[in-house]
Amino acid sequence: MDTPGTSTIVILDFGSQYTQLIARRIREFNVFSVVLPCTTPLAEVLALKPKGIILSGGPSSVYDDAAPKADPAILSTGLPILGICYGLQFITHHLGGKVVPGHAREYGHAAVTVTEVENIFHGLPSTLSVWMSHGDHAEELAPGFRVTATTNNAIAAIANDPSKIWAVQFHPEVAHTKDGMKLLKNFVVKLCGCAQDWTPEHFIATTVAKIREQVGSGHAICGLSGGVDSSVAAVLVARAIGDRLTCIFVNNGVLRKDEFAKVQKTMREELHLNVVAADASERFLSKLAGVTDPEQKRKAIGNEFIAVFDDEAKKIFEAEKSSGEEIAWLVQGTLYPDVIESASVHGPSHVIKSHHNVGGLPADMKLKLIEPLRDLFKDEVRRIGRDLQMPEEILERQPFPGPGLAVRILGEVTPDRVAILQEADAICVEEIKRAGLYRKVWQSFAVLLPVKTVGVMGDQRTYAYTCAIRAVESEDGMTADWAALPYEVLRTISSRIVSEVRGINRVVYDITSKPPGTIEWE
Ligand code: XMP
Repeated sequence: MDTPGTSTIVILDFGSQYTQLIARRIREFNVFSVVLPCTTPLAEVLALKPKGIILSGGPSSVYDDAAPKADPAILSTGLPILGICYGLQFITHHLGGKVVPGHAREYGHAAVTVTEVENIFHGLPSTLSVWMSHGDHAEELAPGFRVTATTNNAIAAIANDPSKIWAVQFHPEVAHTKDGMKLLKNFVVKLCGCAQDWTPEHFIATTVAKIREQVGSGHAICGLSGGVDSSVAAVLVARAIGDRLTCIFVNNGVLRKDEFAKVQKTMREELHLNVVAADASERFLSKLAGVTDPEQKRKAIGNEFIAVFDDEAKKIFEAEKSSGEEIAWLVQGTLYPDVIESASVHGPSHVIKSHHNVGGLPADMKLKLIEPLRDLFKDEVRRIGRDLQMPEEILERQPFPGPGLAVRILGEVTPDRVAILQEADAICVEEIKRAGLYRKVWQSFAVLLPVKTVGVMGDQRTYAYTCAIRAVESEDGMTADWAALPYEVLRTISSRIVSEVRGINRVVYDITSKPPGTIEWE
């Protein structure tokens, strides 16, 4: 494998949920890093010519039979090593110290006293607020090691300078550890001597080269949603194989107003993608008729998506076959947070989003996956998209659920109700954008309630639907606070919806956070 930039850090993954976060932090210093399963043979690790090695945390105890098996010879390569949490215990256990099961788990915030403010602690305060998550702890150090930081209960950091091995019991990679970034940077830049010359352009160049090599003269298909992830993934793959990528964009009948046309135009004219657009609104809406249960709606849309995608893929497949080519690849915009398990310890777990399910494709196609973004976080994907000169309109798009407006129309989804909500939603988005709030809030949208209320317009009594406005602030959609939108913005949204959208005569604002609420109403 090529090494982009001039310096590489290898992160050996012992199964921690934070491993990819370590890689991300290192990318933030403009240094290249690669996450490998801890079971990777030493020769393969050394072949990457790393400047240093990080041993991640992990859920096991060094005494567990099922503890991940890494080659202890990794500890005597002479390369600088940083152990994190389980990494510290692995080092202690294998170099002749003693790890004992903890009587009390330390979990959450802890105060650490640093006794040697140098090496990894260079320039940090002598008292640190850190994030701990461990049961076992080191009781006797391995020969040549000394304690460089402690908590009230346990050893918090150890060092063996001549062997260039340092380790911490806490997690410097998480945001809860206040000076964690400085600690990691001390290791990566000062102690390993990495050059900070790795940029998103390197990511683009190596990813494109890798895809080109993988796909060879083959063909690929990709399901586009119009959102950030699938668009960036498609553009990267198109850079590598050009027109041999065909993108499929499906109108499921519950997209936003004019979205089917707009997305096609952007994808073709601005991103120069080869797009097959399938207007299957009627197919979807007929499956949604009479369905009121939210999960049934999701199921109906998910299944129909697979069926439509299948039909379109088959057509492309047949056309390519007749010209002697075969589609062998499916591109997905899976991001790291979509990959549920720590893939590297348990073997690659290709978690496929249900609405892009390969299981639904013809068996004889035997598609292999290309997931160029599977190690990245959303904001990194946006950064890559910017370097690919993609339009801000796509990169800054708020998340939109796969089942679309169907989970924002409470009760039955009918063509009339879709049309009403499309109008209200368009006004909501327009006003939020006009107020300069679109990028500040995580999501902002309208919800159509199956509740009619009495109103009065001119001299006429009205009896029409209620619309709820939902706007939330969030980092990742897992938790969210309702956004305190300015009254003026709410006033404009409300009066425009009631006067411009036939069928709605009342607007309310949702002031529920998540938890206990969810972002979507269904
Ligand atoms: P909730 O409503 O669970 O939403 O707080 C969290 C995030 O997930 C999105 N969401 C979905 N996305 N298919 C999707 O692709 C779905 O069925 C779905 N349900 C919720 C939601 O928009 C928010 O960003």
